[in-house]
Amino acid sequence: MKKLFFCSFTIISLLFFKSHAQTNLERDKKLSELISKMTLEEKVGQMTNLTLATIAEKTDEPIKLSMEKVKDVIVNHHVGSVQNVISHAYTIEEWHQIIKTLQDVTLKETRLKIPFMYNIDAVHGCNYTIGSTLFPHNLGMAATRNPELAKFCAEITAKEVRASGIRWNFSPVLDVGRQPLWPRFGETFGEDVYLTKVMGLSSIRGYEGNSLKTKGVAACMKHFVGYSVPASGKDRAPAYIPEIMLREYFLPSFRAAIDGGAHTVMINSAEVNGTPVHASKFLLTDVLRNEMGFKGLIISDWEDIKKLVDRHRVAGNNKEAVRMSVYAGIDMCIVPSDYSFYDDLIALVKEEKITQQRIDESVRRILELKYELGLFENPYPEKEAAKLFGLPEYKKVALDAARESITLLKNEKNILPLSKNKKVLVIGPNANSLTALNGAWSYTWQGTKEDYFSKDELSIVNAIRKKAGDVNVTSIDVKSLSGLDATIISNIDYVVLCIGEGAYAETPGNIVDLEITQEQKNFVNFFRKSGKPVIIVVTEGRPRIIREIEPVADGIILAYWPGSQGGNAIADVLYGDFNPCGKLPFTYPKYSGDILTYDHKLLDEAVEVADPYNFSYKFDPQWPFGFGLSYTTFEYSNLKLSTDQLKGNDKLKVSLTVKNTGKLGGKETVELYSKDLYASITPSVKRLRNFKKIYLDVGVSQLVEFEISKDDLAFVNADLKWVTEPGDFELMIGPLKAGFSFSEK
Ligand code: BGC
Repeated sequence: MKKLFFCSFTIISLLFFKSHAQTNLERDKKLSELISKMTLEEKVGQMTNLTLATIAEKTDEPIKLSMEKVKDVIVNHHVGSVQNVISHAYTIEEWHQIIKTLQDVTLKETRLKIPFMYNIDAVHGCNYTIGSTLFPHNLGMAATRNPELAKFCAEITAKEVRASGIRWNFSPVLDVGRQPLWPRFGETFGEDVYLTKVMGLSSIRGYEGNSLKTKGVAACMKHFVGYSVPASGKDRAPAYIPEIMLREYFLPSFRAAIDGGAHTVMINSAEVNGTPVHASKFLLTDVLRNEMGFKGLIISDWEDIKKLVDRHRVAGNNKEAVRMSVYAGIDMCIVPSDYSFYDDLIALVKEEKITQQRIDESVRRILELKYELGLFENPYPEKEAAKLFGLPEYKKVALDAARESITLLKNEKNILPLSKNKKVLVIGPNANSLTALNGAWSYTWQGTKEDYFSKDELSIVNAIRKKAGDVNVTSIDVKSLSGLDATIISNIDYVVLCIGEGAYAETPGNIVDLEITQEQKNFVNFFRKSGKPVIIVVTEGRPRIIREIEPVADGIILAYWPGSQGGNAIADVLYGDFNPCGKLPFTYPKYSGDILTYDHKLLDEAVEVADPYNFSYKFDPQWPFGFGLSYTTFEYSNLKLSTDQLKGNDKLKVSLTVKNTGKLGGKETVELYSKDLYASITPSVKRLRNFKKIYLDVGVSQLVEFEISKDDLAFVNADLKWVTEPGDFELMIGPLKAGFSFSEK
């Protein structure tokens, strides 16, 4: 029976590969013919990407294309793709009108009728279409530890993007978030390599699905590579990453996504070790293409080729910058507002400084993407796809994701969940703010304009009102304490204080201090004096330091930027309609001068210095990576390894029992860490190797199993090679530990 299954599986696979290979042959033939007919100008036009503002009337109130500009871009300059919005999201009808106009001009007025392609940032839902569903940002998605849910959210995003007539999404960010000051920290899946790999791959699978021809959208891995660890913490600032670290921490999420079939990649705007990544042949061609085998399309980030001249100063003029970046490996340039890239690249080919062959390589990749996306068959917004926009069930998925992301950080004397018939004061700068729930990229780039949000969306206070009833909820919409009268708390049982950050994106989100603002600390201190229990709800895109106010709070929940259902999800957790299960995807720092990831080296934990100096330092974050409480309790027991001698390519089976020992059903993420006891490169104190999320009813136990192979234990050695050295290892799951040794034979 097994044999029969194996045979039929093999035949089906062979047929699949054969038909796949045939399709590729047909595609390659068609594209070769097309490329052979294209002029240099038509080719370079395909490599040029502009922003919507270059083809529209001056404002988008309402959005109106300028036919004169459209024709100049598409017909005179052969431009093959445009992206972005001018200042805010559009309705689905507006998008359809834009795409239809662009395809009409392309198909009716260009010689070769190569379909046009639109691209967009849909980074936590289809955030540039009005009425779309917004999900938690990636940081919150990582806290869910639920890759299936991440995939589901990405699938819905893809449906809404495709419904809008767009087929290429600039998402997800695969940069590992190891510098919490960085204003794009909230767009990352957190600090851990394995978690980023798993969650990133799930979103890519959700975006792209099985075939891009009729469904899904092309994903874009962002931003290759090293963008997320600027030494200064500022956006687009220099990073210094020794190659051994680059390979150990920053390349693996991209490699996993490439192996998973991601179609496109966007390049880091900043520089690594003094070389702007847009000019790095080493990173783009030697590593990304040749070593990691990426065959898809490499797009620049916004204006970054120009920045080689005026920001990085490695090129004396734009033409030189274009030469450098195309030579390094860029296929398509987000110019985004003029023809400088187009003019200079044409000149460079004519002067024989860039070969025709190099141009043809890029053009083929671009046309391949258009082909894969089904644009050659049907470039217009698709009626069937449009039916999948804004379905009511998407809200439930957004709610599930927001709920599962919420991380309970403190619950003194089980103050939470709150009782629905007690009186609560809901206050603080984020209490009645939709933008603080949705963060960056929410109908506007900065996410700060609430006019574009759905009228049904509930802020934290409104969601609490809905749940606990108006009579039980008092709220004062104040951003600061001035004028606040202490008597407001006289009839109150609890204070729910909503603090953290508002919305911001990219460079405007730069800060000089991770500490939460003084104004917000004042709020906490004001309520401390009242003697009433204080529950702090934090919504933020990066961990703002709350060391000074943490002791005052009886309960703390962290909701990240939870998206459109964030208000409801927070209310559900506060009142116990959902048992929290989020786990921190980063190490929550206690001091701004003490930023250390959980997988640091032992030497980072300085030893004590004895008398007379009496100095001691230990790794002391506010909360560790993986931390997150529940309203129930779980007991871990019976950790077993199938062997204590792992050999060669064998697998080590790991099992344990997890039991819900509390009074409420709940989800628990079981995380498996390993520790290499001795190695030629100093080992990290621990590394996450796998995790599983399970649901357990009260009193129920479950056997949880993992498998470990030598590849899971590998690290990059001094020769920059991935190796697993023979020796002793320890596995850690919750409070349990077990040791084994590894040998090749
Ligand atoms: C951001 C990218 C984004 C691009 C296009 C840039 O400013 O760095 O992440 O995809 O704009 O909008």
